Amino acid sequence: MLDIRDFLKINHISLSRFINYCLYKKDKGFYQKNSIGTHFITSPEVSQLFGECIAIFFLIILKKYKIHTFFELGPGNGTLMKDLILSFKKFIKDSMSFYLYEKSIFLRKLQTNNLSNLYSKSYKINFLKKLQFNKEPIFFFCNEFFDALPINQFEKVNNSWFEKRVTYSNKFEIINIKSKEKFNKNYKNGDIIEISPLSKLYLIKILKHIKQYGGGFLIFDYGPFSKSNINTLQALHNSKKCGILDFPFQSDITYHVNFKDFTNIAKKLGLISYGPITQKDFLFFHGINERVLDIISKTSSKEKIESLNKQFERLTSPSGMGGLIKCIYISREKIDSAVFKL
Ligand SMILES: C[S@@+](CC[C@H](N)C(=O)[O-])C[C@H]1O[C@@H](n2cnc3c(N)ncnc32)[C@H](O)[C@@H]1O
Repeated sequence: MLDIRDFLKINHISLSRFINYCLYKKDKGFYQKNSIGTHFITSPEVSQLFGECIAIFFLIILKKYKIHTFFELGPGNGTLMKDLILSFKKFIKDSMSFYLYEKSIFLRKLQTNNLSNLYSKSYKINFLKKLQFNKEPIFFFCNEFFDALPINQFEKVNNSWFEKRVTYSNKFEIINIKSKEKFNKNYKNGDIIEISPLSKLYLIKILKHIKQYGGGFLIFDYGPFSKSNINTLQALHNSKKCGILDFPFQSDITYHVNFKDFTNIAKKLGLISYGPITQKDFLFFHGINERVLDIISKTSSKEKIESLNKQFERLTSPSGMGGLIKCIYISREKIDSAVFKL
């Protein structure tokens, strides 16, 4: 079979196609062979406290709205869903359905293994390779899903727009090709626009579902409160930042999402959006501090206390995950929770 390198010696492909290839090529792509935690860590993998706080957020909303279906996008190892279900089991006796939508065959298998012992007659767990849902109100949620979706980049140079595309001559290279795309005239020379076609598709599909049937969408992702027109594409290899072409197939590729795009789409569809707020504010509001103090008061193990303090610090530190990751919630109905009014 023709290797992509041979194809790219005489052609070029969009950044999004290249990223998709590096992350999901069968057997070889980064997410087809790496579990979460090997090259980078995410909040659910740092501590179960993250999932417990999300469970509390939903439990508060569930007091008013009887919704029994939860749907996670891009669940990685399945840890967040596991922590959510374990928390719900303490409080909810009704029947519940949980869906995990995952693209990687490798991670889907891992999720099935990690969640198999939580399945019961009243708690049904479903693993999906297609984004499809039943006609019912659903609570959607995701952590670091949108920032893992492939993007295209366009740069304004000398009043013309160029698209960044990937080619190959001895190594992968990014080249600028004149683009026919039309963007707002207010952009300055040097501005870079990042567009994720898949993000928009997914978001619109989910938000239209919420508009019709109810429920909500809780999103955690890396991104600033207000995104500038700069290059935010980056890769992580063995927990170290690198260029996206440095370790193809062996690095995770991400970018910073633009929450304004999300809330604008929600507004156009007539939905209410809350946030963004920092992960730190979200977790503090839902009692992470009290939970840590409570666990510490019940243990005499120095190691456990030290490890718990480290997890807490990592999740909430303003210069790390606590400040860099933001959270938004989109729904049809108003919610009573004051978390987004902080
Ligand atoms: C950065 S990881 C985050 C994993 C997990 N949510 C966590 O916080 O540990 C991104 C996840 O999204 C999945 N993913 C990326 N693109 C996807 C797509 N188009 N459809 C479904 N899952 C996708 C990846 O395979 C992976 O599970």
